[in-house]
Amino acid sequence: MELITVNTKEEMARLAAEIIAKTVSEKPDAVLGLATGDTPVHTYSLLCEKCSEKLIDFSKIKTVNLDEYVGMGYNDKQSFKRFMFDNLFDKINIKHENIHIPDGKVADIALECENYDRLINSLGGIDLQLLGIGHDGHIGFNEPSTEFIYETHKVMLDPVTVKANSRFFKNENEVPRFAITMGISPIMNAGKLLMLAGKDKKEILMQAIFDGVTPSVPASVITKHKNLTVIYCNE
Ligand code: PGA
Repeated sequence: MELITVNTKEEMARLAAEIIAKTVSEKPDAVLGLATGDTPVHTYSLLCEKCSEKLIDFSKIKTVNLDEYVGMGYNDKQSFKRFMFDNLFDKINIKHENIHIPDGKVADIALECENYDRLINSLGGIDLQLLGIGHDGHIGFNEPSTEFIYETHKVMLDPVTVKANSRFFKNENEVPRFAITMGISPIMNAGKLLMLAGKDKKEILMQAIFDGVTPSVPASVITKHKNLTVIYCNE
């Protein structure tokens, strides 16, 4: 594991954008696993800038996102699909057919989960997976549990997550209680993992990376990955 500590969010985003840009330039048809949340927003804006300056080319890049709320799609402004288009996809030269996000609006969620795993496999897996960490130690929406769940699955959100994500909604009652999340397997099978965490996540991050692997802190599993970079920002 490479643990990089930086002092500012700006520096964290700059480093993360450089790592992602390097993957894209080394493998122009790479599969990028992407994350939502506040933490990667500035990284995405730097990637948009690089793309508008023609320093990075997403025309052959494929993406798979970690998760989506059940019942939400592009027309819901809090959906992760909308987040990704607003913060990245609308501002880079990616082909829409190469963008993949679990569909929270489908009737058959179990089938959507199966199809998502099949899709990731058909793409040959993920080259670089970007990750945040939840206050409860989740990655994607793999919530604390008694066991790791390896496949894409429907999950009931932990009360800690509902509370944390209520900042994007009018109130806590409006936060969806269920989500579809990529499971642990595609994350751990990614060629490289890049985790970003700010100061508000210090305690849970330290627990995840130094206190041993346990499904009660799902992010702890990434310490088993052979190519893991964690960027911790002291701001
Ligand atoms: P945040 O979310 O970046 O908005 O803190 C991270 C996460 O919940 O995985």
